[in-house]
Amino acid sequence: MAEPRKRVLSGIQPSGTLHLGNYFGMMKPSIELQDGGEECFYFIADYHALTQLPEPAKLRERTRGVALDFLACGLDPERTVFFRQSDVPEVHELTWVLSCLTPVGLLERCHSYKDKIARGLVPNHGLFSYPVLMAADILIYGSHLVPVGKDQKQHLEVTRDLAIRFNNAYGDILVVPEAMIREDVAVIPGLDGQKMSKSYDNTIELFGEPKATRQKIMRIVTDSTPMEAPKDPERCNVFALYRLLASAEEREALRQRYVAGGMGYGHAKQALADKVAEVFAPMRERRQELVAKPRLVEDILQAGASRARAVARETLNRVRAAIGLE
Ligand code: ADP
Ligand code: TRP
Repeated sequence: MAEPRKRVLSGIQPSGTLHLGNYFGMMKPSIELQDGGEECFYFIADYHALTQLPEPAKLRERTRGVALDFLACGLDPERTVFFRQSDVPEVHELTWVLSCLTPVGLLERCHSYKDKIARGLVPNHGLFSYPVLMAADILIYGSHLVPVGKDQKQHLEVTRDLAIRFNNAYGDILVVPEAMIREDVAVIPGLDGQKMSKSYDNTIELFGEPKATRQKIMRIVTDSTPMEAPKDPERCNVFALYRLLASAEEREALRQRYVAGGMGYGHAKQALADKVAEVFAPMRERRQELVAKPRLVEDILQAGASRARAVARETLNRVRAAIGLE
């Protein structure tokens, strides 16, 4: 008999405009997984974004932006269940059940929470219990594999811990998931060479206005090697981005221009800007088509939510029975 299909699940917060770091670190690898044999569930974590209390119009706009970006970048709603977290309110029922099994100390030790407090944020209870909602997101769909960035590793450990605690207390009900952390996807550098992140204001947006994108690329920080001198592509932020987008031949050609000398960083930046424009042109076009069909995007999310809800309901029924609620 064939092995049952594994379920892959991941979520992304609609907390800003998506950028090249999100694309290469999370979106592209997740979208590629839909071509494998697994069943993919991807969702927009709008309840998680609420921990930062965005303005309602912003939350709505960003959620819609993330949906458009993912669909434009190749997420195929025929093969992947794509939905909005808040369209499956069942997740809160499981969150509560898990909360009652969560030692406060476990949440107090979470780096992401501690980092935010260290930066002066006054935490709300939602921020504190963020990992419990995330655990419920994962466990309610019986997910086996969860592709995430390294920054989410600890949250996956919390999830596994809670699943094991639940199963020990009430029987083998929840699937204990595995994190899928791609060590090969390096941290994508931003304009200033630090990790590209919306918090550092150093991003290249996926679907930014082309002229503004080129201007941003021209601002990428490089060293002061003079124009004539040979340059080391391995230590250059411009090349680090170019290599992600170019073919092997193009990469090699630019590498040789670096080491030969006589090429200024300005040329490399123009080459990168051309490449960004070229690679994202078809996705930009697809995005425009989708923008013109707001109903279609909403229908895709609703269809995804209805498939997700059916799975959530089933898990919840088993959980409720096991804990003595019915
Ligand atoms: P940001 O740092 O801009 O706030 P998020 O934390 O919302 O981005 O990240 C969403 C997803 O994109 C996560 O899976 C994260 O690992 C990935 N990601 C974000 N920035 C980068 C980057 N610079 N390099 C690689 N992956 C990234
Ligand atoms: N916390 C994740 C992030 O900030 C987003 C997220 C919420 C998530 N729920 C999830 C990721 C469940 C994977 C699985 O990137």
